[in-house]
Amino acid sequence: MTAHHHLDTMAVHAGRDDLAELGVHALPIDLSTTNPLPDLEHAGASYEAMAFGGRPPADGSLVYQRLWNPTVARFEDALAQLEGADEAVAFSSGMAAMSAALLTTAESGRRHVVAVRPLYGGTDHLLATGLLGTEVTYANAEEVGAALRPDTGLVVLETPANPTLDLVDIAAVVAQAGDVPVLVDNTFATPALQNPLALGASMSLHSATKYLGGHGDVIGGVIACSSESAAALRRVRAVTGGLLHPLGAYLLHRGLATLPIRMRAQQAGAGAVAAWLADHPAVEQVHYPGLSADPAGLLGTQMRGPGAMLAVTLRGGYDAAAHLVTSVRLFTHAVSLGGVDSLIQHPAALTHRPVAAHARPGAGVVRLSIGLEAVGDLVADLDQALRPEVVSDRADAEPHMAAAGHSWAI
Ligand SMILES: Cc1ncc(COP(=O)(O)O)c(C=O)c1O
Repeated sequence: MTAHHHLDTMAVHAGRDDLAELGVHALPIDLSTTNPLPDLEHAGASYEAMAFGGRPPADGSLVYQRLWNPTVARFEDALAQLEGADEAVAFSSGMAAMSAALLTTAESGRRHVVAVRPLYGGTDHLLATGLLGTEVTYANAEEVGAALRPDTGLVVLETPANPTLDLVDIAAVVAQAGDVPVLVDNTFATPALQNPLALGASMSLHSATKYLGGHGDVIGGVIACSSESAAALRRVRAVTGGLLHPLGAYLLHRGLATLPIRMRAQQAGAGAVAAWLADHPAVEQVHYPGLSADPAGLLGTQMRGPGAMLAVTLRGGYDAAAHLVTSVRLFTHAVSLGGVDSLIQHPAALTHRPVAAHARPGAGVVRLSIGLEAVGDLVADLDQALRPEVVSDRADAEPHMAAAGHSWAI
């Protein structure tokens, strides 16, 4: 496996280099919590190396699962390859990953964080509380440079942003940040569509719970970064214990194999649903990179396709939004995203509830995560769920396939 292979090939084979040597074909799951120790000297040296963020010495022992687990390490290696990173470090959730990044920032002495809004509500909330010793200044993407202080240790951004689906110019923020590391939450795009490190970012963070796993059955997080940052993050993980369980790592690694093809199919569905919603009288605005203005020309360059997340602002405000999310039958009314089945939720009431009122999404905004169902079925479901709000004669409407017809690089 090399980085010269196509993304589809990498997704299937990455992180599996040692399987033939082990004499197995499927990913092995190592559930050991502790490992037999060789002589005490080598055992102690292994412990020392890993407790401070290093990889296990070749002649040592893995000692204890909080320090290292081979099943988790294989997933990390695979994700690092897909992101074009030196290494990756996996955690028990996306928030545990973000917490580790903030703890390393606080420990560095440069504890000020500049955060580009909007962000996932949990991230926004964690930053606002200062719980982990950081202090935040929120800024627009264009204002990052002005918001920097001598003690700024991290810039955080999300693109596409949650839930506006706005694209943030990663390279432009990196240029403003100078020597301050930039962490990009790449959850919505995934490495199938976007590689933040290639644009100068220092860390690419994922709620692996979403597209990487892809089936809504595992919570995890991961950060792709340089070897130096990986060591710092592993040290925090070892001492705070926010570990990804090996069963979770197995599921996430298996999920990676179908990531590009899932993303391609879900993106095609999202384009068609977005185009249909744009023509609906109950809809004031569709937020979808494939339909929205893109003055910086980021779509097709920074991001290889518009992805499978979208949001709508409904003309009827909160009442219309509440009606829609509770009237769907095929979509599931649930938070989270990125799985094979379509989900719908109201960010202001749920995922973005902890965000300061002035920065919270509007009351009429509903977010949709498009899965692998047939577009006609999804549109029919939305059509019946929207109907009581605005009587429409669109029962037999064929989905408008214009956006789906566009050929993206993925
Ligand atoms: C963009 C984004 N980042 C981070 C997170 C947090 O991830 P987790 O729920 O795995 O902790 C989420 C969760 O919804 C998210 O949507």
